[in-house]
Amino acid sequence: SNSQFSLLKQDYQAAQALYHHILLKTTTGEPALKYLQQRQLSLETIKHFQIGYAPKENKTLVSFFQGKNKEYAELNSSGLFSEDDAGNLYDRFRDRVMFPITDQSGNIVAFSGRILTTATATDQPVAKYLNSPETEIFNKGQTLFNLAAAKKAIRERGEVVLFEGFMDVISAHQAGVVNGVASMGTSLTDQQLYLLNRITKRIVICYDGDTPGIKAAQRALQLLKSTNFDVGVVVIPNGQDPDEFIKAQGAPAFKTLVEHKSLTPTAFMIKYLSQQYDLSNDADKVEFLNGALEYIIQVQSPVEQELYLGQLADQLGISKQAVQKELQDKQKTQK
Ligand code: CTP
Ligand code: MN
Ligand code: MN
Ligand code: MN
Ligand code: MN
Repeated sequence: SNSQFSLLKQDYQAAQALYHHILLKTTTGEPALKYLQQRQLSLETIKHFQIGYAPKENKTLVSFFQGKNKEYAELNSSGLFSEDDAGNLYDRFRDRVMFPITDQSGNIVAFSGRILTTATATDQPVAKYLNSPETEIFNKGQTLFNLAAAKKAIRERGEVVLFEGFMDVISAHQAGVVNGVASMGTSLTDQQLYLLNRITKRIVICYDGDTPGIKAAQRALQLLKSTNFDVGVVVIPNGQDPDEFIKAQGAPAFKTLVEHKSLTPTAFMIKYLSQQYDLSNDADKVEFLNGALEYIIQVQSPVEQELYLGQLADQLGISKQAVQKELQDKQKTQK
């Protein structure tokens, strides 16, 4: 119901204010603040994204809400708590850096909480990120991190930059790329594209440069094929993610990459394909050429086709005429 909606939103707002206060103003929050500083987030950025800290102790929020005359049912359905065997509530998020997630209007509807260690997910007994469960006010597939706050910048710049992770959105913002959003640790959905379609016609995919990121970008391209979006793909070199790239290469290099170095979907697919082959080997060259032509054949614009053929010829050290002929033969056999 509507009143239940607004109660839950108030609860999330109150929890965020508490977590933010604990992070910035208490000794309990010091290790988390230190962690964020180690990740080179400025105080301004921490405040802008309303980042907080949920302490280790498992009754912080429980105690906080106790004095507020809340109904058990409301708290229990909020997603902020878990229930023990005796039916007592305890805090769902403990010892985690808290990233608030808003709906399109900017109301906080969920959290993602990150553990404080820098170890990779695989050697952790607990998940690196813990998200709020879906509730009356939170649907993962319909949510994009930072969309409400970035809407204006997305309109002004005429494009949205789509990241894999929250930290990438936050790091990019600090580096001056303020039109970024991220899906909620899941693949891109039709509903998210529907939301974006109302504010922009162009999407720049900027996923992690590792294998999972490249695979996710391919899946996103597949989904985007049946839409009218103009699409660009940024490949982050050396298998890094955007946050790591910004730290290693600096904000200006990242801005240049996003604003001037994005590839068309076809160029991205060809680049990715070429990495599967040893192009000093003739058999590999032929196989790669065939695969690349399968992509080029689908390009509508003759000018674009011509461009890719030229690049392919250069890359393989083959004459442009020969590559062109190969494409024509392929077109004939496919008719
Ligand atoms: N994710 C998750 N649970 C995990 C690992 C990842 O929900 N155990 C989601 C998060 O939304 C995360 C995204 O997948 O932002 C991308 O994962 P990954 O690249 O591993 O995380 P980063 O965003 O790089 O996070 P960090 O830099 O904080 O390690
Ligand atoms: Mn800002
Ligand atoms: Mn990743
Ligand atoms: Mn990453
Ligand atoms: Mn990262």
